Amino acid sequence: MQDLRGITYDEFVILKQKDFPQAEGDLSKLLRDIGLAAKVINREVNKAGLVDILGMTGSRNVQGEEVQKLDEYANEQMIKYLRAGGQCCVMASEEEEDFIHVEDDHAVNAKYVVLFDPLDGSSNIDVNASIGTIFSIYERISVGVPSIEDVLQAGNKQVAAGYVIYGSSTILVYTSGNGVNGFTLDPTIGEYCLSHPNIKTPENGKIYSINEGEYNNWLDQGVRDYVNYCKENNVEEKRPYSARYIGSMVADLHRNLIKGGIFIYPSTTKATKGKLRLLYECNPMAFLVEQAGGLANDGKNRIMDAKPNELHQRIPIFIGSKNMVIKANEFLVQ
Ligand code: AHG
Ligand code: MN
Ligand code: MN
Repeated sequence: MQDLRGITYDEFVILKQKDFPQAEGDLSKLLRDIGLAAKVINREVNKAGLVDILGMTGSRNVQGEEVQKLDEYANEQMIKYLRAGGQCCVMASEEEEDFIHVEDDHAVNAKYVVLFDPLDGSSNIDVNASIGTIFSIYERISVGVPSIEDVLQAGNKQVAAGYVIYGSSTILVYTSGNGVNGFTLDPTIGEYCLSHPNIKTPENGKIYSINEGEYNNWLDQGVRDYVNYCKENNVEEKRPYSARYIGSMVADLHRNLIKGGIFIYPSTTKATKGKLRLLYECNPMAFLVEQAGGLANDGKNRIMDAKPNELHQRIPIFIGSKNMVIKANEFLVQ
């Protein structure tokens, strides 16, 4: 196979267009619009640490302008670039209560629906830990005026999904159902370049990622039993495993995708259906991880087969290396 390492994301997306002849380039354009919005978000994320130095205090900066929260800023940029691109007729965001119908003339015949978490892990901004943007793309199913049914599609209908991680470098990872590829932003040329071709996640990881502070609040005893299993020494199975948890889904999953591991956000006494959102957090991550050879379920059923009932629906999630997810599921009462 041709070694494409180093080619830009825009070139790669166009090259892969032949896999989707029915998409006529619209999907490629949409993916590039998202990449562009993420570059703008990246610029602002990189400046976040300068806020105090530049004298921005409270909610106003030195020029008397409102200082925006980064997740609101990221939300605005995603909406702005997706709207301008004209390839999507419906958007939905973690930061918006209702879905957005794009009514501009140039988007009248647009056939895509984009759901996104504009900034994931935002509690980590202050401490300079990695955060990200997550997106999920569907074809519209409505005829005429777009409706909520366009947004409430099962994850198995996604045509593409991905995330951008703003970390020690900025990496865009996406799938359109034909493997997973990662592109690192080269700030000197302002382009994402293919750095992680055809990502496959190890079948047997050694990392477990869960907010263990909630140990006593997990609704399912099986989750406690599995975590205790991860901690037990076992030479043959190379246990104990390592605990790693940033509290930023994108960062935790990106690490586990590359190194192998399991990420769990289970039901708790406070969050009885888990905390993470089905449509713009769990489904896109499930699509990526499955495409990389891993698994994603709610303890029993595949995440991508869940039937969404509402835009901001939550779901428990067990996601990552195939054999780790299977093992974790065995501890749960089915
Ligand atoms: P967001 O910043 O988009 O609200 O998402 C935060 C999420 C997710 O990134 C992370 O995995 C999870 O919250 C962490 O939750 P806990 O602090 O409860 O562990
Ligand atoms: Mn999030
Ligand atoms: Mn968010």
